[in-house]
Amino acid sequence: MASIPTIFLVILVTVTAAATTTTEATGNWTLLQSNIGITAMHMQLLPNDRVLIFDRTDFGASNLSLAGGKCREDRNDYVLKKDCTAHSIEYDIVSNTFRPLMVQTDVWCSSGSLVADGSIVQTGGFNDGDHVVRVYKPCDECDWKEIKSGLINRRWYATNHLLPGGRQIIIGGRRQYNYEFYPKISPTEKAYSLPFLVQTNDPNLENNLYPFVFLNPDGNLFIFANNRAILFDYSRNQVIKNYPKIPGGDPRNYPSTGSAVLLPLRIIQENVTLVEVLVCGGAPKGAFMNAQNGKFDRALKTCGRIKISDPDPKWVMETMPLARVMGDMLLLPNGDVLIINGGSAGSAGWEYGRSPVLNPVLYKPDYPVGHRFLIQTPSTIPRMYHSTAILVRDGRVLVGGSNPHIYYNFTNVLYPTELRFEAFLPSYLDPHLSSSRPKILPGTRTQFGYGDQIIIQFKVFGHVNPESVSVTMLAPSFNTHSFSMNQKLLILEGRNTTTCVANATYEVAVAAPPSCFVAPANYYLLFVVHRQIPSEGIWVQIG
Ligand SMILES: *[C@@H]1O[C@H](CO)[C@@H](O)[C@H](O)[C@H]1NC(C)=O
Ligand SMILES: *[C@@H]1O[C@H](CO)[C@@H](O)[C@H](O)[C@H]1NC(C)=O
Ligand SMILES: *[C@@H]1O[C@H](CO)[C@@H](O)[C@H](O)[C@H]1NC(C)=O
Ligand SMILES: *[C@@H]1O[C@H](CO)[C@@H](O)[C@H](O)[C@H]1NC(C)=O
Ligand SMILES: *[C@@H]1O[C@H](CO)[C@@H](O)[C@H](O)[C@H]1NC(C)=O
Ligand SMILES: *[C@@H]1O[C@H](CO)[C@@H](O)[C@H](O)[C@H]1NC(C)=O
Repeated sequence: MASIPTIFLVILVTVTAAATTTTEATGNWTLLQSNIGITAMHMQLLPNDRVLIFDRTDFGASNLSLAGGKCREDRNDYVLKKDCTAHSIEYDIVSNTFRPLMVQTDVWCSSGSLVADGSIVQTGGFNDGDHVVRVYKPCDECDWKEIKSGLINRRWYATNHLLPGGRQIIIGGRRQYNYEFYPKISPTEKAYSLPFLVQTNDPNLENNLYPFVFLNPDGNLFIFANNRAILFDYSRNQVIKNYPKIPGGDPRNYPSTGSAVLLPLRIIQENVTLVEVLVCGGAPKGAFMNAQNGKFDRALKTCGRIKISDPDPKWVMETMPLARVMGDMLLLPNGDVLIINGGSAGSAGWEYGRSPVLNPVLYKPDYPVGHRFLIQTPSTIPRMYHSTAILVRDGRVLVGGSNPHIYYNFTNVLYPTELRFEAFLPSYLDPHLSSSRPKILPGTRTQFGYGDQIIIQFKVFGHVNPESVSVTMLAPSFNTHSFSMNQKLLILEGRNTTTCVANATYEVAVAAPPSCFVAPANYYLLFVVHRQIPSEGIWVQIG
């Protein structure tokens, strides 16, 4: 996160030390629940510190009964016409408890976004659920509400993104070479075609499902599908720029599932001038077909990084210490990228993944090339197809799911349906760092307009160099199929403004994001980061 020369020197010293110990494992795992009853295929953090989790309604009976003896009767369901078990839960982070929720239609391989009022608006799925929009507004007793024909086209394996105007765009999905918005501006609003999704569709392989979509601060969308990307003006249905093909040409989207992040965006003079995307892992072209024939190709070991804001952008390739398909990439509050879950052979899709990669890997975007990856402590639980990971307010990463089977299968299979729910604790949560960890003091305002000044008081022990304090803001993302929709970390403007106001008490003044193009109105998590160690976050509302 540091870009100024003096800090860089400090980092270089640290890097030299780290580089010699890249195999030293760091971070910890804890098992939170040995059985949450369903497999966590989709996850979204909510602004009341609960997590909405769901799988699909046609897996058959789950291991969790619906509350009050309720049952779901669905004549369209392929497996059970009457199912008295849950396929969605709300997990409460603070109490480490969960309760079953009732979802009526099939949410399998769907998409969604948190929206400005704090609810999640989820779209599509399979079968009777493919045109359905569902809203979950969190409260103690709430449940899903379904809008039957909310979508114009079926959306299965589509990607959503929250837009500056407050609506969501829903892009693609199986055999859908188009996009639409939700909510509709008028009852007659149509879907718009997107030929890029035809061009990137390998016949019989697809390889462009769940495209990687990011909102560029210039208002356009960056859309990566298969092995290349465009900058797209969705309001005029125009391609603004074609980015070069990723070197090697191998596909990175489902079923060759790699992952991608928008690297942390630094706001300077109310502007973001450097915008970078990092795409990592995946499976080589043909891996899905080969897996069908019992040949499990080695996963891709490369990442491509591109400055999408550059007039002549080029991919810069890097090599991960571990090859990975179906990995999740998460932005941590200090600007590091965590690569977690997945396998090192085969492909996404039923039964097609092999060789679980149990070690997460950390990527430090500001370290010199060749020194950016750090292998982390392994989990003991394989997290293959249909596994998920999200960052929560206290800095932990919650990990769940893994079910490469058409049903819940616990025996006689390679990777049994996984109901265990665990947390990865990045090394910034090490107890021996607790005295350097900032603690945001109560009383910070939590609602801001664009460009507003945000004054945060925090406590931290030891000497604080103002240059080593930054304030970051994270958009809580919707995670499924190894991609976190809407994921974004902003480094707020106001570096070096930290002053000491009392013993071990400091104040930092930063500016809220400058516009809805940088941060669409929504809930965000705000962190004070001191020497790469983030505080617990606080929820703030922007816009
Ligand atoms: C889930 O339920 C099935 C059927 O009752 C049972 O066989 C299986 O052991 C349970 N699995 C777990 C992990 O609880
Ligand atoms: C933001 O930066 C870009 C790229 O340098 C520049 O074209 C644009 O005018 C700047 N916008 C503002 C509001 O300063
Ligand atoms: C998986 O579960 C389904 C439904 O319970 C069952 O029909 C099938 O035989 C199981 N598969 C294996 C490999 O056990
Ligand atoms: C992980 O656990 C070990 C042993 O309990 C402890 O020494 C270490 O500080 C822990 N690290 C984190 C990140 O919690
Ligand atoms: C931070 O503030 C100190 C003291 O005012 C100053 O010496 C230093 O140059 C500043 N650094 C930056 C990056 O502005
Ligand atoms: C400052 O706070 C620390 C930690 O609470 C305490 O040990 C120290 O005595 C305090 N110093 C002064 C001057 O109050």
